[in-house]
Amino acid sequence: MDKTIAEEKIKKLRDEIEKHNYFYYVLSNPEIGDYEYDLMMNDLIELEKQFPQYHDSNSPSQRVGSDTNVEFEQVEHAYPMLSLGNTYSRDELAEFDQRIRKLIGDQFTYVCELKFDGTAICLTYRNGNFIQAITRGDGIRGDDVSANVKTIKSIPLHLRGTGYPEEFEIRGEIFIPKEGFAKLNEDRESRGENLFANPRNAASGTLKMQNSSIVATRPLDCFLYHLLGMNMPSDSHFKNLSFASGWGFKISTFIKKYQILEDVFSYIDSWDGKRRSLPFEIDGVVIKVDSLLQQKQLGFTAKSPRWAISYKFKADQAETELLSIDYQVGRTGAITPVANLKPVLLAGSTVKRASLHNEDQIRMIDLHNGDSVFVEKGGEIIPKIVGINKEKRVPQSSPLFFPEECPECGTQLIRKEGEANHYCPNERGCPPQIKGRIEHFISRRAMDIDGLGEETIDLLFSEGIVNDVSDLYGLKKEQLIPLERLGEKSADRIIQSIEQSKEVPFHRVIFALGIRYVGETVAQTITRHFTSLDILMEAEFEDLISIPEIGDRIAHSIIQYFTNDKDLELVNKLEEYGLQFQMDAAELEKRSDKLVGLIFVISGIFQVHSRDDLKSLIELHGGKYVGSVSGNTDFLLAGENIGPAKLIKAEKLNVKVISEQEFMDMI
Ligand code: IVH
Repeated sequence: MDKTIAEEKIKKLRDEIEKHNYFYYVLSNPEIGDYEYDLMMNDLIELEKQFPQYHDSNSPSQRVGSDTNVEFEQVEHAYPMLSLGNTYSRDELAEFDQRIRKLIGDQFTYVCELKFDGTAICLTYRNGNFIQAITRGDGIRGDDVSANVKTIKSIPLHLRGTGYPEEFEIRGEIFIPKEGFAKLNEDRESRGENLFANPRNAASGTLKMQNSSIVATRPLDCFLYHLLGMNMPSDSHFKNLSFASGWGFKISTFIKKYQILEDVFSYIDSWDGKRRSLPFEIDGVVIKVDSLLQQKQLGFTAKSPRWAISYKFKADQAETELLSIDYQVGRTGAITPVANLKPVLLAGSTVKRASLHNEDQIRMIDLHNGDSVFVEKGGEIIPKIVGINKEKRVPQSSPLFFPEECPECGTQLIRKEGEANHYCPNERGCPPQIKGRIEHFISRRAMDIDGLGEETIDLLFSEGIVNDVSDLYGLKKEQLIPLERLGEKSADRIIQSIEQSKEVPFHRVIFALGIRYVGETVAQTITRHFTSLDILMEAEFEDLISIPEIGDRIAHSIIQYFTNDKDLELVNKLEEYGLQFQMDAAELEKRSDKLVGLIFVISGIFQVHSRDDLKSLIELHGGKYVGSVSGNTDFLLAGENIGPAKLIKAEKLNVKVISEQEFMDMI
């Protein structure tokens, strides 16, 4: 295909796909089916591969994310990201109203909005193009999570229509809808992974993931609620949001304007009643003064604007009887107390169990046997006990004491200084810990061994066939078939899947070992620096903590693991069975020492590579990547649209400014 025809075609496909993203993700009103959409996307990906000179980091094909790990660059907010004053009481809302009237008189309008329960984000656009997405951080500086945010298809990468300011910020809330959250947790449960407590944690956890291709699989969405910058189209916040909706942003349709407080109260009451029927979580209502001029007159206190407040809904509560407490033992030996309750209806579902967290919590609420307790559902899937009704306490009832011994194996429990949890130290002999480790090892993100559910592991363990994960690799089909419910076919599949797991890459094997505090991301980070088991085992504490993401706690845990005879024995056995204990040769080949000792800062937009790609190239070639220019920086890798402040600083500090091409020449 001719170059110019290809360029034209690529442009057309990008426009077309973005249009359908808008119809599907913003308007919830798709014009075409998945099949047609996929065909277009495949065409685009193919053409972009053939003609890399037309790479665009804002192409819809880039919304799938990248599987390189990135550290987030810290970026200062152009306007601080303050939080809102909040209240649960109508009286305080009336005081808020009075304060405003005193300062600006009675001629103003309120805008009432839903308070989305997610995590705040600040997006920047220039000339109609997405530039960056920054988290709230400490309000002054946040993390540049652009790569992750670009995977959210309801966030436009190019604006529609006209009339938007040349440069502006738009802030909003990233969230996971209720249905997507339920499914996400179901998937995690089936893989034996920890569940997210609520959609808010799931959204903020996802946004901070270092691998944007995983983020792309999560059902994130985003409502925008606040425009900032010069030259806004209107003095009215309400109208500006309506303009923003025309530019392609997802703006809630439940925004209302009111003149008097009474109407604000009715809005609150109506949403307190209806909120459970929304497809996403809200935790209150936000009330804002509409006019930007009046907002300016009202100004800010140290912490929050005087022109806005949030009214928070009270969490749903119910009262019921405490029947008993289970002390559950997790894979790491941590003991979690869980209360069994007399079933009670709470916010539309029956609650039978509630979390008690730890010993301090039990003491704090002074829980006795048979108490009548208040349970609360505050967005968490597991309700919690928040207090007791002392009036109903039976006089002779005895206070509850945390057990001293493990309920599963009888070992004396320990509680380390500064930690809230009790642990059972009998790692090798406590059944739920052993089984938990095996379940973690075979889970999808670890060794991905299919066909072995929790029940089969239980059986294999209780029959004495599998005592640790290395025993899996000695399993014979004949040992599996006699187990309950396992036919020849299932047994074949399990054996085959175990065999296949020998190809699982090094970083996932390290994750699968279940070293405490070594999750997926940490496993990837350490294997990038220590490319084989032998090198990793030689690593000293100082070597480990010299890696930016590795702190003392993780480093200690890794050192401890590789100095424990039992752990070493297990790792040796796994190595003999042929698991991958070094980085893949192709991966290794990409590496060099060309940038050893050099420190880079990246800024701007690049022609060929994404910023994530450049970061990982720096690391692959031994260089170091940092977030901001300082006296130690050797190179500022500058793309288009780089801010003048960075360039001036680089010049002042004698930091060499290089282009993408010059960087590629270096490596
Ligand atoms: S306006 C300066 N509007 O609630 C005021 N915030 O504590 C900017 N939030 O950090 C915030 N829904 O993350 C605003 N409709 C809404 C909101 C909203 C949720 C969050 C936001 C903010 C926090 C306030």
